[in-house]
Amino acid sequence: MRKYIVAGNWKMNKNVIEAQQLMSQLLDYKKQNPSNCEVYIAPPALYLMMAKEIYENNEIGVFAQDMSEYESGAYTGEISVGMLESIDADGAIIAHSERRQYHGETDSHANRKVKALLDKGLTPIYCNGETLEQRKSGQHFEVVKNQTETALFTLSAEEIKKVIIAYEPVWAIGTGETASPEQAQEIHAHIRSLIAAKYGQEVADEISILYGGSVKPDNAKEIFSQPDIDGGLIGGAALKLEDFSKIIEAFN
Ligand code: PGA
Repeated sequence: MRKYIVAGNWKMNKNVIEAQQLMSQLLDYKKQNPSNCEVYIAPPALYLMMAKEIYENNEIGVFAQDMSEYESGAYTGEISVGMLESIDADGAIIAHSERRQYHGETDSHANRKVKALLDKGLTPIYCNGETLEQRKSGQHFEVVKNQTETALFTLSAEEIKKVIIAYEPVWAIGTGETASPEQAQEIHAHIRSLIAAKYGQEVADEISILYGGSVKPDNAKEIFSQPDIDGGLIGGAALKLEDFSKIIEAFN
């Protein structure tokens, strides 16, 4: 059975005091409210160790927002998968659209990063999704197909089963505009069918495919109720416990 997951991508938000507060609030909440889904956060890299200390019993998964494809060396500003492994982080978000847009990240980079994580036993949350122009010109199925194939289809069946995919249409991220549950479902089903065609239905059925892009307390339940949507990657609404907890409860 695939996992249901609500993951919060904090992006570049919160100072250390605020980060510590929200991490602790989330732990208290989680202890009092057993959830029907796994809960992960991806705070800024600076706070990953603190998150691992607060969640010492792995109550909440801790993910980096990105990482280098290289093992170590002269890559100023980067963090490596070995560093993540050494603090017992659970994995990393890979190829988020903001990394693609502002840092030139491609699916070939994503392919190497995903492999580097899997080789160390960490979990990639691989993001894809089309831009507004691509959707308007009807290329969204093709774009997502090319992204998924380039980033993931060199993996073995055993490897790809461990990847979490997040479909995040670029036009819905941070814009307040959400893909309708039907629009999201048809792309999720498309991604799953591509995986089934290459690796078999059994493998495809094991992979959690999250939706991301303006998921909020008032639309989460409808989005998550779609058959191929296994949870969400949440940006803005992950920054306040009040909103994030309601999204977690959409699985209850
Ligand atoms: P948003 O961000 O929920 O603020 O739209 C989602 C994401 O970028 O992962």
